[in-house]
Amino acid sequence: MYREHVSPWCYSHYHLPTQALTATQSDSQIFKKFRQLCGRTGLLPASHMILGSLIKTRDHPIASGAFGDVWEGIYAGNRVAIKSLRVYRDDDVRKARKLFCKEVVMWRKISHPNIVPLLGVSEAPAPISMVSEWMPNGDVRSYVEKNPEVSRLQLLLDISRGLSFLHSHEIVHGDLKGANILVDKSGRARINDFGLTIIASLNCTETSASSGGTYRWMAPELLGLEQNPNKRCLPTPQSDAFALGMVAIEVFTGQVPFPELTRPFAVTKKLVDGERPPRPPKASKLGLSNELWAAVQSLWAQEPGDRPPLDTFVDLLERVNPDMGLLEELKEFDANSDEHIAKLDYMLQYGDNALFGMREDESLVLIELFDRVGLHSTPSPPCSDMPRF
Ligand SMILES: Nc1ncnc2c1ncn2[C@@H]1O[C@H](COP(=O)(O)OP(=O)(O)O)[C@@H](O)[C@H]1O
Ligand SMILES: [Mg+2]
Repeated sequence: MYREHVSPWCYSHYHLPTQALTATQSDSQIFKKFRQLCGRTGLLPASHMILGSLIKTRDHPIASGAFGDVWEGIYAGNRVAIKSLRVYRDDDVRKARKLFCKEVVMWRKISHPNIVPLLGVSEAPAPISMVSEWMPNGDVRSYVEKNPEVSRLQLLLDISRGLSFLHSHEIVHGDLKGANILVDKSGRARINDFGLTIIASLNCTETSASSGGTYRWMAPELLGLEQNPNKRCLPTPQSDAFALGMVAIEVFTGQVPFPELTRPFAVTKKLVDGERPPRPPKASKLGLSNELWAAVQSLWAQEPGDRPPLDTFVDLLERVNPDMGLLEELKEFDANSDEHIAKLDYMLQYGDNALFGMREDESLVLIELFDRVGLHSTPSPPCSDMPRF
């Protein structure tokens, strides 16, 4: 019985209830219905499944979360991360599976060079798992701790671009923090963990986002300490912007915000009282100029409406860090260097985005390089039959 419940259904056999779809519904409303349906049934379209053998390469998970363990593995000859459902009671399995499907559906919808790519879902070996591309440089905070010489501006720009991309698709991340930002093989930051994402434009009430997140990164309005403590506050693009300000602290210091405070209440009190982390003393030489510090502070304004749209922040970062380092390096491209190949691969994934807004001489360097290695277009994602909403 349960087996039948878990088997993936084929998208082509699936029809949304007619009353659920009308000609006036926008793509995001249709997507919301689709996601709700997957969340309610615990089923996923066949186009989301990966085929072929998936092997765990270690005896123990590398991380454990609320309802899943993350393992390192191999799929189709490549290193992957496997996030497996881990629950014990039947009831929990069904509940967790539904949350799991909602995360998969949201994550599968988005593709961007600053988002960790989801390859698909596997049910063999059981339990059900999300399989994502392996990020060999770990999370962004440990990456800067281990590699203090890396460009903090570039990492912050990567993260801001990823988040801005989500917002431009009306997606709120809801749990942005250093631990949910990973660094790929070419040293570029990518946003991960879509467990708490919601669709911003819709009055989405089914999410557990208000109880999730992590207090050090949470905007004051999410902390539930306002006049009406029972009021349910959902994450918004503005609360994501607040979290981005806290991530900037992690990127420049390699430490969590308020590292000296160990008790959650001490942190939440500061946040609600309008206190914020001090300017990191050694960060000026890492690129934290007065202008950028002022912009970071504006991201964590107490009033959500006073926080600027992310595009302004991205524009500022692009102005101070126009990716020139990468292009300069690519001029010296060495086809035998894994690091150079990885960087080019990153640029290729950017596709048109990489060229958009670039100076002509910059784009010529890139185009010439693409020609030299015989690559001209963005590679398609592994499950390209997935209908995009
Ligand atoms: N694709 C990946 N590549 C490398 N490590 C990963 C990957 N995905 C997750 N991890 C590791 O597992 C940790 C937890 O992953 P995450 O998706 O955030 O799960 P959770 O829902 O438990 O927070 C990450 O901080 C990272 O260390
Ligand atoms: Mg996480």
